Amino acid sequence: MNTQLLTKEGLRSFSESQRISFEKELKTLVEIPSISSDPTKTKDIQRCAQAAKSLFERYGGHAEILDTNGSPIIHGWFTEEYEKTITVYNHMDVQPANEPEWTAEPFEFMVKGDTYLGRGTTDDKGPALSAFFGALAVREAGVPINVHFLWEFEEEIGSPNFEQGLKKHKDKLKTDAIVVSDTVWITRGKPSTPAGLRGLKGFRLTLETADHDLHSGVVGGAARNPLTELITLVGQMVDGNTGHVLIPDFYTEVIPPSSEELEGWRVSGFTTQTFMKDHQLKSIRSQDPIDILTRVWGMPTMEVHGVVGGYTGPGIKSSVAPRAEIKLSCRLVPAMNEATTMTRIKAFVQSKNPDVVVHEEHGLAPFKGHVTGPYAEAIREAYQFAFGETCVFTREGGSIGAVKTMEDILGSEVYFLGLSLPSHGYHAPNENYDWEQASGGMAAFAHYFKTVSKM
Ligand code: BES
Ligand code: MN
Ligand code: MN
Repeated sequence: MNTQLLTKEGLRSFSESQRISFEKELKTLVEIPSISSDPTKTKDIQRCAQAAKSLFERYGGHAEILDTNGSPIIHGWFTEEYEKTITVYNHMDVQPANEPEWTAEPFEFMVKGDTYLGRGTTDDKGPALSAFFGALAVREAGVPINVHFLWEFEEEIGSPNFEQGLKKHKDKLKTDAIVVSDTVWITRGKPSTPAGLRGLKGFRLTLETADHDLHSGVVGGAARNPLTELITLVGQMVDGNTGHVLIPDFYTEVIPPSSEELEGWRVSGFTTQTFMKDHQLKSIRSQDPIDILTRVWGMPTMEVHGVVGGYTGPGIKSSVAPRAEIKLSCRLVPAMNEATTMTRIKAFVQSKNPDVVVHEEHGLAPFKGHVTGPYAEAIREAYQFAFGETCVFTREGGSIGAVKTMEDILGSEVYFLGLSLPSHGYHAPNENYDWEQASGGMAAFAHYFKTVSKM
């Protein structure tokens, strides 16, 4: 084993030597608009899968495109000869990029000093490639471990076919542990790894009370107004000012953060000011840092995402719309159950406005992670080694559908070695990633693989 390559210095020169390759490969992936929610982009998803397979092969590895009932999953690897196997999960699909605030083409990769711009740079193509180059380092050093990769193409639509695909191919996916690199730190220089993820359950409310647009002077006052009724109903479901959900028993299963967790959050480096700056928030519901973290990490939510119906052109048109729709979702925390939550919501809607139809969307279960044991220790050590800082165990407000599925189907535990920063702008215009996180990420992954190989 070439231990010199695996020192801090060795890995620094390794990553520097790979920088041009890293940027070239990231450019290739970012410039394929693999938007999973857009049905016109299925060719690009296929193209991105081919590009990913070719990437493994060009660097002396192997890859196969695993078929599912939806988009494929890439299974890549460098070696199979060792006893120990670690699988790294990332996703290769991205969010749409039609926000007007993009200052450059979202699917043209741009390097600005140490910053990489483009849709998918941080969520999640950049972190995927950082892990990939970390694996190249340990292969070159001869570390006795098989590093395998699973790259999904449907994460941003809730992984609807991942479970089926994994079940179909699970015999070749046996692994000792899984590392997911698809989460954010609290801030630059402060690594964090989640001890939990929120789940997500989307649903739509629809109401139809007439056949076509009606004159509000002719029928208004007597005719029902589906937009007003849905807005009234949603106002009974959630307090828009505080965010408090008003559905009976909605919070019953919520486990409040433990005092150890709260202590971790206190020393996590989180500040209200950076939070607001990173996300460019003009005002928020609370200024207290622990209250903010509890709201984002420890509590469920109900959000309205869109209202469909009525006149949206310039000025106003005084008609009564015949139908309306409101799109909502709930983030769920560990111990909550999406079916129970939906039952409560449906009963409430039925009691308040029985004509409203509730349409359920595909849901993701919440996830409670592992913070102790050798694999969790190895994550801590990897961050410390690569970034010179101890990581804090936080939670994550977002959702990754594949996580619970991988634990259930592959029977191995999932850990998180995320590399994204809040300022990278997940799902936002001008999404970016940077060389500090990429090169540090390579070193962190290499160190992680080395530590785990000895376990
Ligand atoms: N990488 C995120 C998950 C995430 C978000 C982790 C925030 C940590 C903090 C992932 O790509 C994502 O965006 N998930 C979606 C899933 C949904 C669209 C089904 C989410 O959380 O909304
Ligand atoms: Mn992601
Ligand atoms: Mn995402």
